[in-house]
Amino acid sequence: MQKPDYHILVCASFRGTEAKGKCIKKDSMQLINYLEEELVDRGLNAVVSSTGCLKLCEEGPIVVVYPQGYWYGNVTGQDVVDEILDALEEGKPAEAYLL
Ligand code: FES
Repeated sequence: MQKPDYHILVCASFRGTEAKGKCIKKDSMQLINYLEEELVDRGLNAVVSSTGCLKLCEEGPIVVVYPQGYWYGNVTGQDVVDEILDALEEGKPAEAYLL
């Protein structure tokens, strides 16, 4: 496998073995499938991982993009994911959602 250009983290709210935080209650897991589809459609070499609570629950759902280190909050749906990926393709952050 080729090493990915980007690693996108999506908060899955786990604290210990239970998903107790807020992101999952705001449908963060539905972002993962959409991200996976969009990455393929756009030909971006990236992997998506779910994470434990990233400790910014009030700003959730949280999405982080590495290696840029962009931390995004209020990633509330597909339209926001589109803006984030559009910006990534343009080599810049999606400013409106940066934390
Ligand atoms: S549950 Fe996502 S930051 Fe806490």
